[in-house]
Amino acid sequence: MSNHPHPGHGQAARQHTHTHRPPGGNTPAAHTHTSEDMLVDWETLGPFLERGAELHTPLHEQAAAWLRELMTAAGGTGPDAVRRVLDVGSGPGVVTCLLARAFPDAEVVAVDATEGLLERARARADRLGLADRVRTHLAEVPDGLDALGGADLIWSSKALHHVGDQRGAVAALAGHLRPGGLLAVSEGGLSPRFLPRDIGIGRPGLQARLDAVAEEWFTQMRAELPDATDDVEDWPAFLADAGLRAPLTRSFLLDLPAPLSDAAREFISANLTRSSEAFADRLDADDLGVLTRLIDPEDPAGVTRRPDLFLLAAQTVHTARAQ
Ligand SMILES: C[S@@+](CC[C@H](N)C(=O)[O-])C[C@H]1O[C@@H](n2cnc3c(N)ncnc32)[C@H](O)[C@@H]1O
Repeated sequence: MSNHPHPGHGQAARQHTHTHRPPGGNTPAAHTHTSEDMLVDWETLGPFLERGAELHTPLHEQAAAWLRELMTAAGGTGPDAVRRVLDVGSGPGVVTCLLARAFPDAEVVAVDATEGLLERARARADRLGLADRVRTHLAEVPDGLDALGGADLIWSSKALHHVGDQRGAVAALAGHLRPGGLLAVSEGGLSPRFLPRDIGIGRPGLQARLDAVAEEWFTQMRAELPDATDDVEDWPAFLADAGLRAPLTRSFLLDLPAPLSDAAREFISANLTRSSEAFADRLDADDLGVLTRLIDPEDPAGVTRRPDLFLLAAQTVHTARAQ
């Protein structure tokens, strides 16, 4: 699967969206889509997004440690001086809470266009004893951020590609940084792998074929966005165009070897279920048959029971600093 969200891979595949607003209202709605067959109901995806982000905790902890280092580097303000962090497109707030732990003197604001996901973020912060420093803000980026004031660190992971004008979205976020503040955009990386090339059923190379259809799907989705621009997708260039300096890029690995936990197996099963639905008209009958077997909990070749399942993913983070 691709490393960008799409309906088949809510957590780590490609898709982009346009948001339906209620008649006459300014409140962002909980589901977004480009066309009827590409509906994305973010609120329904909540449990899937939360489980996926939890599984990626080791990766996000490495990224957060790097951000702490950057905040102490020359010209930075230091982790202790980080007073406000925004997590833009936070989803259910897993990374929001992780950032609150990494920056213990900061107020951390989960910003998202879906109220149901922000409710999850609040409940999570409450469970983790972070409710006094984690708050939520409903906004559809690039709009709706003015009320938040300046931030020392703005993090956005796998959310800005849901905005048609990605360059404009980066510029809008950069405009909310305090002097010396850091913008960190996590977009791209490597498509996750969880199956061997040859799984003993069907033709070898299923995951590569799923990646290929996910890329086609994502391209179509972006093309359908009403405000989609024709920009080359160059995140460091977007950061530079926003007037930020000292660009850095690093990638972080999630490496969960076999045998996988039940939670990881459930996540992969949900992922493949969504792929089989979203890509039904893009895959051939053989591959669809293999997907059906893979998600059958009773099938010894399925992801619930097979011993060789693993989870390997890489996520790229691009950063730059305000003057
Ligand atoms: C794939 S999820 C990523 C969640 C989280 N950042 C993570 O890495 O696990 C994308 C999130 O972006 C949010 N989103 C999409 N378009 C948005 C927009 N224009 N403004 C704010 N949030 C948006 C969705 O509601 C969803 O929670």
